[in-house]
Amino acid sequence: MTDFISIESIARRYPKAGGGETTIFEDLWFSMNKGEFSCIIGHSGCGKTSVLNMLAGLELPDDGVAVVDGRAIEGPSLDRAVIFQSHALLPWRTVLGNVSYAVSSRWREWSSDKVREQAMRFIELVGLKGSESKKPSELSGGMKQRVGIARALSIEPKILLMDEPFSALDALTRGTLQDEVRRICLDTGQTAFMITHDVDEAIYLADRIVLMTNGPNAMVAEIVENPLPRDRRRIDLHKHPDYYALRNHLIDFLVSRSRSFKDEIPEGYQKRHPPVVRPTAKPTAPGDDNRQVA
Ligand SMILES: Nc1ncnc2c1ncn2[C@@H]1O[C@H](COP(=O)(O)OP(=O)(O)OP(=O)(O)O)[C@@H](O)[C@H]1O
Ligand SMILES: [Mg+2]
Repeated sequence: MTDFISIESIARRYPKAGGGETTIFEDLWFSMNKGEFSCIIGHSGCGKTSVLNMLAGLELPDDGVAVVDGRAIEGPSLDRAVIFQSHALLPWRTVLGNVSYAVSSRWREWSSDKVREQAMRFIELVGLKGSESKKPSELSGGMKQRVGIARALSIEPKILLMDEPFSALDALTRGTLQDEVRRICLDTGQTAFMITHDVDEAIYLADRIVLMTNGPNAMVAEIVENPLPRDRRRIDLHKHPDYYALRNHLIDFLVSRSRSFKDEIPEGYQKRHPPVVRPTAKPTAPGDDNRQVA
């Protein structure tokens, strides 16, 4: 399969206060296939939002290029929708008004009936039917984020970009929204890229997880393939024999390897082709429980 999204040798550098410059990252490479859900995890400040902003076209890399569907990204486009941590809704417009605004920007030739129909389809998908006439000030935090999701998906983007979209929500609402985003992305074949600090969110949502080392000079240490079945359900994730192998691998990375990786670069490591790993349960003696302590 050819790469649908490819990040090719991108760099971000900032001038230092006393002269010179800090390299946040450089020569960073990874790619995504169409319909794939990727998460990126790494410590604060390593450059995750910078990567996402480059995919969104909100920032241009200092070197290298990000390519979507064969075209180099040169600026923002309705081909790429972003869901931020804060919902960024227009406060004077209703739910329907906010989503319709995005739809009519995407398809300027559409009649108002067609725009409304498309907007309502996505408002319904995120469970907000009945609230379409409300203004953002009349909605809970979770509902506002749902409007953000409906707005992003309603323009049928080539890629959905999410920067910690659920981190400001309570655990129950977060779980419900994760379920919704996962279901919609699977049903529509939506390609998605999400930044998260939450290992369990990555395990539940992602097909592949990009591990980014600490900055400055952050690197993509590995691409982790999720060994759990694609039709996994939140309630029995932990029963899958590979669940703890995957979870431990991610936690081990965040706790120690994200820091030590640079000093212990594995033999044969190439920035252009970060190793792809698939953590699975070690074979055990008959009768042993496969679970490892998290
Ligand atoms: N305008 C700027 N000038 C100097 N340094 C900057 C500027 N903007 C960002 N940085 C630095 O770039 C680095 C990467 O920032 P970025 O927001 O991409 O990190 P992040 O991985 O998303 O962090 P977090 O998890 O906290 O959101 C940070 O160390 C930040 O201090
Ligand atoms: Mg960030």
